[in-house]
Amino acid sequence: MKTDVLLGLQWGDEGKGKIVDVLSPKYDIIARFQGGPNAGHTLIFNGEKYVLHLIPSGIFRDNTINVIGSGVVLDPVIFIKEVEGIEKSGRDITDNLLIAEKTNLILPTHRILDAANEAELGSGKIGSTGKGIGPAYTDKTSRNALHIGDILLPDFKEKYEKLKARHLKRLKTYDYNFDIEEYEAQWFESIEKIKRFKFINSVHFFNDALAKGKKVLAEGAQGTMLDINAGTYPFVTSSTVTSSGVCTGLGIAPSRIGEVYGIFKAYTTRVGSGPFPTELFDEDGKKLQEAGHEFGATTGRRRRCGWLDLTALKYAIQINGVTALIMTKADVLEAFEQIKLSEYYDIKGEKTDYLPYDIEHVKPIYKSFKSWQSNIKECKSHKALPEELKSYIAFIENKVGVPVKIISTGADRKDTIIL
Ligand code: GDP
Ligand code: IMO
Ligand code: MG
Repeated sequence: MKTDVLLGLQWGDEGKGKIVDVLSPKYDIIARFQGGPNAGHTLIFNGEKYVLHLIPSGIFRDNTINVIGSGVVLDPVIFIKEVEGIEKSGRDITDNLLIAEKTNLILPTHRILDAANEAELGSGKIGSTGKGIGPAYTDKTSRNALHIGDILLPDFKEKYEKLKARHLKRLKTYDYNFDIEEYEAQWFESIEKIKRFKFINSVHFFNDALAKGKKVLAEGAQGTMLDINAGTYPFVTSSTVTSSGVCTGLGIAPSRIGEVYGIFKAYTTRVGSGPFPTELFDEDGKKLQEAGHEFGATTGRRRRCGWLDLTALKYAIQINGVTALIMTKADVLEAFEQIKLSEYYDIKGEKTDYLPYDIEHVKPIYKSFKSWQSNIKECKSHKALPEELKSYIAFIENKVGVPVKIISTGADRKDTIIL
């Protein structure tokens, strides 16, 4: 068996949570392989809305095992809040949720370091989610981090104090006031509560599962343009968001990767700072923001909006080896008579469809399309979709050379067309 992957092709918030939830009955195991509580994955079904930050989006299916992989950074406070939120309705998820023992911990001081870094950067800030992601991954690569597995060791408290002391020393170099007492108390309470979950060796777990014929879906967080290597550095997150991150984040070989689903919105959004070639500052941008309810699921920040960018999309498809595309939020474009997508970039008068090193100074070359001004939520098959939307999709498929296999026509689980 192979591991399928579903990941974002833009700057995050493409609708990954919704589609993973839709696909999860086809899989035995759903696994997060990177990122942390910077993610906000929204699921809507039976009139209820859930936003998941750390727990994989298969958690609402009774027969699905959900795994937090070793490539993830986990904040115990946020994790336990999320568990308790799901269990409020009477479900017990202890047996449906496993955590890799090498999953890295986000300490209270990581959050402070994140905030202090951002404050120091001032107007040049990354616009991070403030969850301590950058500092937590920094400790991982500098070989100072604590793993979930460490919480069962007799000297865990000492290890914690040692790392905290390093952080406090570093924080003295910033002009930044903070108080972690309350959060630290919650953190230790949450550490105790996490102990009821099973910690696994993820290499053994996934390889055994695949050998037994189990179907695995890896759920990406963030999006390719936020990837630490491939993204718009330094305005990126600190993990490997791309399909290669599945191998290191779960402990499986590249030859074990199967279908790679790349998900994108029918337009583009971005939260936080950094270049965004097709960003709109006009009425159309405002209309996308309003019609798409574009507010961050984790921070509530207003998302920047613009037209679809085919140059960036092609790049993301290439780097991930995408085999099937998923388009979301096409319903939002119903609000327009005419829509656009950027087919190429103009760089100093030259037309290119390659992503250049400097994407700050490119000019998108747009192509206009007539929009479908009808309610596509009513459409339950590809055939039933308006001709204008079909030609928009066909144009994209033709340009990027990968078929669109799933079309999302609304936020609810039900509003999905699988081809
Ligand atoms: P994720 O981070 O990729 O899981 O995406 P988010 O949950 O952060 O953001 C996607 C937003 O769009 C959420 O509010 C979803 O409920 C919503 N959504 C997902 N798919 C669709 C769709 O096809 N149409 C509309 N209108 N909303 C959608
Ligand atoms: P999901 O999984 C959108 C952005 C932040 C910031 C940059 C770095 O919901 O798609 P970080 O806190 O990671 O250090 O922030 O990355 N960012 C996201 N944007 N969706 C996300 O996750 C994001 N996770 C991080 O806004 O620009
Ligand atoms: Mg999100």
